[in-house]
Amino acid sequence: MVSFLIAYATWSGNTQEVAEIIKETLTGRGYEVESFRIGGGTIPDPREYKAMIIGSFTWDKGATPDEVKDFVADIGYKPANVYVFGTGDTQFGGDALFCNAAVRLARFYESNYAPLKIEQSPRGTQATNVVNWTEGVIKHWSHLNE
Ligand SMILES: Cc1cc2nc3c(=O)[nH]c(=O)nc-3n(C[C@H](O)[C@H](O)[C@H](O)COP(=O)(O)O)c2cc1C
Repeated sequence: MVSFLIAYATWSGNTQEVAEIIKETLTGRGYEVESFRIGGGTIPDPREYKAMIIGSFTWDKGATPDEVKDFVADIGYKPANVYVFGTGDTQFGGDALFCNAAVRLARFYESNYAPLKIEQSPRGTQATNVVNWTEGVIKHWSHLNE
């Protein structure tokens, strides 16, 4: 059994909704998943998981929320196999700043799988995008670990 860690930060619930769809998709395919909401509780150790999936909203002109920066600092090293997702809103700076926290996290962790960007709540076609992205994560991860 392979276990994925999903660590996500959410303020108004959008990023949590995405995290839940990712979790459902992974568990539906038989993978074990642990979810952690960034900003509370004991920080998990990514070493105990096969891969970390990290998600964040974007704040204040493309910024990464402080709790996410703290989480990254508290982990203290860059795990391999990191996958990144985020939610944002193009009305706060257009495409240039859209989901910028996710873009920055993916760059920081040198993720070689494109970050998922969701506009606000993952409903309708966006929910399908989350499922497809997660299936891509499974394929990517499996290929790396064949
Ligand atoms: C003050 C403020 C600033 C924001 N700045 C950005 C931004 O620069 N880029 C972006 O993509 N979204 C921005 N957003 C939108 C949020 O990232 C978006 O609503 C997100 O889905 C919230 O996630 P949550 O519901 O998980 O907290 C901003 C929202 C607020 C309230």
